[in-house]
Amino acid sequence: MVNILGINSVYHESAAALLVDGELVAAVEEERFNRIKHAKEADWDNPHQLPERAIRFCLKQAGLTARDIHHVAYSFDPKLRRKRYRAEWWGHKVEETFQLRLGQVQSAVEEFLGRSLGQRFHFVPHHLAHAASAYFPSGFDRAAILTVDGIGESAGSSLAKGVGTRIQSVETFEYPHSIGFLWEEFSGYLGFSNYDASKVMGLAAYGDPGVFRQQFESILRAETENYGVAQDFLGVQPDKFVRMEAMFGPPRGMEDEILPLHADIAAALQAATDAAVMALVRRAKRKVPFDNLCIAGGVALNCVTNEVITRSGEFANVFIPSAPHDAGTAIGAAFAVHCAKQKRPPQRGYSTPYLGPSFKRADILAAVKSAGLNARRSRSPARDAADMIADGKIVAWFQGRMEFGPRALGNRSLLADPRRPEMRNILNQKVKHREDFRPFAPSVLAEHADEWFEVGVHSASHAFMLFAPEVKPEQRDRIPAVVHKDGTARVQLVSRKSNPRFHELISAFFAKTGVPLVVNTSFNDSEPIVCTPTDAIVTFRKSGIDALFMDDVVLVARH
Ligand SMILES: [Fe+2]
Repeated sequence: MVNILGINSVYHESAAALLVDGELVAAVEEERFNRIKHAKEADWDNPHQLPERAIRFCLKQAGLTARDIHHVAYSFDPKLRRKRYRAEWWGHKVEETFQLRLGQVQSAVEEFLGRSLGQRFHFVPHHLAHAASAYFPSGFDRAAILTVDGIGESAGSSLAKGVGTRIQSVETFEYPHSIGFLWEEFSGYLGFSNYDASKVMGLAAYGDPGVFRQQFESILRAETENYGVAQDFLGVQPDKFVRMEAMFGPPRGMEDEILPLHADIAAALQAATDAAVMALVRRAKRKVPFDNLCIAGGVALNCVTNEVITRSGEFANVFIPSAPHDAGTAIGAAFAVHCAKQKRPPQRGYSTPYLGPSFKRADILAAVKSAGLNARRSRSPARDAADMIADGKIVAWFQGRMEFGPRALGNRSLLADPRRPEMRNILNQKVKHREDFRPFAPSVLAEHADEWFEVGVHSASHAFMLFAPEVKPEQRDRIPAVVHKDGTARVQLVSRKSNPRFHELISAFFAKTGVPLVVNTSFNDSEPIVCTPTDAIVTFRKSGIDALFMDDVVLVARH
């Protein structure tokens, strides 16, 4: 038995994962426990702040103690950083702080685990960890692997080749060529937080990409097989907003109205990103001419770009993990160390997102009791929930193990009726308090998906809400709550195998309404997705959710 703990804490999305004999038994983001979105700010001064609760959960889930851990894998390599770092990027002072903190990571882990690790502690290059997090779960026996994020040690993107259990770096695209950073900057400029790239993506559907196309040619340049980012627009440039202001006018304040201008900027950024990532995909195909492509890195959360990639047909099969962003590197680092240390191949093709905590009925009932509430039991939670949804109610669906990755995929979800156009406003007013322009996603029975959406080649990643296919024009009027401005939907395909309980619920809704899909948004209100029954009850009570189903325990609101 070889137990490998994977840790990400270098920037944000701190997370832990555990491999037991090459088998992924647990993975979870620290934000779900500490209740701070993204767990912590990306800061020069905090890479040594560990996802302690996430690590504890992984050990507990596997029934292990710190003494049972054979290797620890950390998804960043300080040596590689020192080798590649250039002083002109952001000066020595902040970099010294960063290096100092990185130098404290191993001792922080040792202190937390209460034992010294010596050679059993491994720094894994960040983009190798991303690549492994996509490649091993994909089940492909060979694949081109693209990583596109903010920055690893020094690269904004990289291309690798996976064959068997080996991942080999092919080439890297160094700072400042960072599409992820560009999205962070434009998110800030458009009046959102730096981590709100998904809002910018949603806004883009309302804009005209042609208005600022020319301006974006000097910001994010796409050639046939290459791309480039202008450094002037990135984070450490003190006058970055001055440059943007000269091109697009003053930055939008958080409370300011969203104007067509803002949507046009977002649309041009989205179009430039599609073109740049497609250039990388074509390059990947030429250099690693396999049928399969794996993608990781935060930019792989952009379901519009992912759709462009899969539609292009450059690669027959595309796989993206449920957590392509930095949280996923906890898994990837552990896989990389397993392959380096073990003769036995790691588990491959296992791509479930349901890797977090689950709770027994007794835990759920205890939480209900301590909240002073009365629950009832349902003999058929799926059917009862489906009836309520069809009745226009908002149902919180809390079942089984929590999802790993930023999307709720039917285990910590809020569900509603997609046939009702008013559902978007009701969800926003009663629970989510999000910007009106943001779309809500549908979860559809996989076996009926092609009747409603232009899915194309089905990928295991369609279970993770990572693509935005068009809704069939003749179906759009039937499901107005989930059709985005541009006629697309960020759909999740639900099969009986991937999530039997959720599949049963949607099947019951289908039997009742003839529509094989429901609105699915994450179970939270402006905070991390709920983790425990107590989190679920707190959010249920403070919001306008109509019913909460936890296992077969049901709470119905009296508002
Ligand atoms: Fe990353």
